[in-house]
This record gives sequence, structure tokens and C-alpha cells, in this order.
Amino acid sequence: MVRRSNTKIVEIRPDLTVAPQVKTVAYNDINLKNWKEYDYVKTDTLWEFPSRLKEGGHSNEYHGNFIPQIAQQLFWRYTKEGDVVLDLFFGSGTSGIEAINMNRRCIGVELKDELAEKVSEKFTPKQLVTDVNIICADSASEIAKEKIKARLDIMMKDKAQLLILHPPYDDIIKFSDRKEDLSNCDTTEAFYDGFEKVAKNGYDLLEDKRFAALIIGDKYTDGEIVSLGFECQERMKRIGFRHKTTIVKDMQGNEKAKGKDANLWRYRALAGGFNIFKHEYIMIFQKDESHKRKIEKLNKLAS
Ligand SMILES: C[S@@+](CC[C@H](N)C(=O)[O-])C[C@H]1O[C@@H](n2cnc3c(N)ncnc32)[C@H](O)[C@@H]1O
Repeated sequence: MVRRSNTKIVEIRPDLTVAPQVKTVAYNDINLKNWKEYDYVKTDTLWEFPSRLKEGGHSNEYHGNFIPQIAQQLFWRYTKEGDVVLDLFFGSGTSGIEAINMNRRCIGVELKDELAEKVSEKFTPKQLVTDVNIICADSASEIAKEKIKARLDIMMKDKAQLLILHPPYDDIIKFSDRKEDLSNCDTTEAFYDGFEKVAKNGYDLLEDKRFAALIIGDKYTDGEIVSLGFECQERMKRIGFRHKTTIVKDMQGNEKAKGKDANLWRYRALAGGFNIFKHEYIMIFQKDESHKRKIEKLNKLAS
């Protein structure tokens, strides 16, 4: 993994050293004085990764996890060392592992208790106290919110500095039979409503001016595309988030299920007039209370 430091010492004379000037924004450690050195940090809207990162404590045993490079890129752009990342769909804990690797901290909420327990084993007892807090709860609930606040308190923070939302893509992968599970909703509309409740909890627990990342793909049902991404994007904006950017991420080789049936899918696509999904979205939002107040004022005037 690439590790960079902003505290490099520049040698002027062998007997004299001067610390270089550092210029950063409020939400990351990128030294803008040396911006050309950060060529590994992506700034465009198309992300392609030749393969999934396997080192650094990551394993690919959980169907539906995201590749660690997504967490890396988001942490470089939107967090500082020591910041707390709040992941409300923790799954196999990719965000937590990468938080440790990159000297960040993480609170992860996962509905399935057996998974939360298994994921805990990836961390040392000390890390589970100081760096990664795993909560087993429904992220849409008040109970989850209260538990997160208590953990933030222990971590000496009022709010989180980055919010990660990687929900089920409606019912594409069924994660459990639990009624609170967003992959188990009766209708897609219920999925959107459930997602909005989780995102609202995330909004309330995020520090002002900080960022939220929504990782999501679309689905294809009954001969038509269901734009889960765009509807969830609208729900984020309805809560008050400012939409900053949408990244299209290539997911070639990420799709275990379709790999062996690629030809069958190609046949179906040719026969059915649709295209096979090879991408998902990473949508970036910012919490900005003053922006929210402005929108609320405009809406009031319009009604
Ligand atoms: C797409 S996966 C997230 C994978 C994760 N990013 C990773 O890399 O492993 C979605 C996860 O959300 C969990 N989940 C579904 N509904 C939930 C809810 N209401 N509250 C908390 N977790 C939920 C599922 O059990 C599943 O593990």
C-alpha cells in the first residue's frame, strides 16, 4: 500500500534542516504545496482498478463487499489521520480494515449479529477498544443512533468525519431474512424509504462540512432498468446533503456470479435489447447546514 507523509524534512545544508510548508484543506491531509506527488489519488469521474487489493488484511469471502481501493481513495480525499469514519452497512468490515491500515478510526454498524461477531475477529482486542467499534443494530433505528453517539464519545468526537453508505442494491443479493434488512423489503419503494432513514441518521451524526459516500448500483427487473442509484441520490438531497460528484466505477472481475455465465448473459442481452451492468456508482455528498437552510427557505417561498 502506498503510504505518504506530509512531514518530510528537506535538507538545505547537511548541518541544517528546515520543515517544508504545508497547506491542507480542513478535511484531508493532502499537502497542496506538493499536490503533484499525489498522483495515486483519483480526481476524475471514472474509476478503473485492474484487480481487487488482497493484502493489508483483506479477504474476499463476503459476497457483496466493495474493493478496498474504494475505501483508500475515499479516506485519502475526505479524512485526516485520526478521523472517525462511520459505516452504516459494515458488512465484512472493509472500511474498518482500511481505517486501521491508514491510521484512521471507524465505527461500523451491521444488522447481522453472526457477521458482526465474525468480523470482530479480524481486529485485535486493543483495536476493538481504540480504533474500530462494531455495533450490531438496524442502522435506521434510534437505538443505533444512541449507540453510535456513545462510541463517538469514547473516541472523543462529537460527530463522525466521513459517512460511508454501501446498502444492499435492493434485493439483488439477499443478506438475511430479517425484516429490517434493506435487501428484504417488500417493494423497491420500501427499500428507498428504509435507505432514507439510515441516511438521515448518518446525516445527523456527521460533522458539518464533511462528506458522505454512497456506493450503489442499479438493477434490471421485468424488462426494465430500476435506477436505484439515482433515486437514492434524490433521497440524499432531500435529507439536505449537497451533491458534489458522481463517479462511475468499473466492476469488471468484481462480479463473481456473472463470470462463469458471461456468454449466457451476452446471449440474453442480444436477445433482450439490454446491456450487462459493468459499472456501479460512488456518489459523493457534503453536509452543509447553511446550504440546507437556504434550500429550506427557497422551498418555503415556492410553496
Ligand atoms: C452491500 S453490503 C456492505 C458490504 C461492505 N461495504 C463490505 O465491504 O463488506 C450491505 C450490508 O448491509 C447490511 N444491512 C442490511 N440492512 C441493514 C440495516 N437496516 N442496518 C444495518 N445493516 C444492514 C447487510 O447485512 C450487508 O452486510
